[in-house]
Amino acid sequence: MLSSAANLLFHVAPGGRLEGTLRVPGDKSISHRSIMLGSLAQGVTRVSGFLEGEDSLATLKAFQRMGVRIEGPEQGRVTIHGVGMNGLKAPDVPLDLGNSGTSMRLLSGLLAGQGLDITLSGDRSLSSRPMRRVTDPLAEMGAVIGTAANGTAPLVIEPAPDLRGISYRMPMASAQVKSSLLLAGLYAKGKTCVVEPAPTRDHTERMLGGFAYQVERNGNEICVTGGGKLVACDIDVPADISSATFFMVGAAIAAESDITLEHVGINPTRDGVISILRLMGANIELLNQRDVGGEPVADLRVRAGSVLKGVEIPRELVPLAIDEFPALFVAAACAEGETVLTGAEELRVKESDRIQVMADGLVALGVDAKPTDDGSSFRVELSVVAGSTATVITVSPCLLPWRRYVPRARSLSTIVPM
Ligand code: S3P
Repeated sequence: MLSSAANLLFHVAPGGRLEGTLRVPGDKSISHRSIMLGSLAQGVTRVSGFLEGEDSLATLKAFQRMGVRIEGPEQGRVTIHGVGMNGLKAPDVPLDLGNSGTSMRLLSGLLAGQGLDITLSGDRSLSSRPMRRVTDPLAEMGAVIGTAANGTAPLVIEPAPDLRGISYRMPMASAQVKSSLLLAGLYAKGKTCVVEPAPTRDHTERMLGGFAYQVERNGNEICVTGGGKLVACDIDVPADISSATFFMVGAAIAAESDITLEHVGINPTRDGVISILRLMGANIELLNQRDVGGEPVADLRVRAGSVLKGVEIPRELVPLAIDEFPALFVAAACAEGETVLTGAEELRVKESDRIQVMADGLVALGVDAKPTDDGSSFRVELSVVAGSTATVITVSPCLLPWRRYVPRARSLSTIVPM
């Protein structure tokens, strides 16, 4: 594949088999949180496997601007000299969080009770994303956070030293909202509880435990009590299952493939992609399962088997695979039969409208992809199915001969979950 970053021209040709062993970069969600909690801890936190991507670097730079001494990253190693719960300093400029929704939403909670004047800004895409989902419940806790008229960034945080704990039932399944409130809860009087409509990634809760901060769980309710301290610890960031997904899908659709992805995080609140690919018939083995600093990891062996089959994706798996759908749509496009995704309206308010963008791209490739408000369906019949009488006919892009394809895409980083 040839590509030019300047005008994003891609020449794509069918490849051969995927074979080998690799470790993809570190988990983005855990990388963000390692900087946040490490900065507020007492003592020195050493992180390995840190993701040196734009989003987690935006978080790192934000804390440097608030006076935290952070060394690295160097080959994934970061050393954070924690300043304690109340040691952050007001930055002299707005904190630019680039494209990172996780930085903005988690920081709005973490900074709400610091007693500092801080403005959080972002790029065009981030500045169009909904922020009231965090600023409204934070205001109930006593936070003073201004937004633009339509509830978007920049967020202007004013000193509000008297946060109070609340019990909040989240209207949507969002780990960012949950984490934002729990982080504000560290500074609130009394207990802050968040009730989830469905399980979402629990890295904040796990990592708080690693930093010796008590978190209570009761079914779908998670609570913290304000006023405690964080104690520095070492963090080994697992490889990101979201990045591993591209290789899992590649191996599952390219005949005779056999790959092993090492040290991948398989936290049960993130492993929906494995369940969905297995439902589609993919051959995925979890080898050498172990626990690394409170996060389960494994080596994933993926071997191509028979052609994947289309499935109705169970709704309960949607929040557990929320960042993996763009790649899963490609698996669906190469599967035999129809794949239907519902209950995924959150995909429309990510850094891009992931449903529309993927449907547009797949339609351009000849796939029958129909976006609905909360999901997509893909109707694909492989041309190798002899004598099929299926009523839904398109061509599998996996079988297309080489052709020059100029994507209508704007920028890769606003299409794929990064
Ligand atoms: C994230 C939570 C998810 C996910 C995002 C990272 C996190 O967002 O899509 O990439 O680190 O907490 P939502 O909470 O909006 O679902």
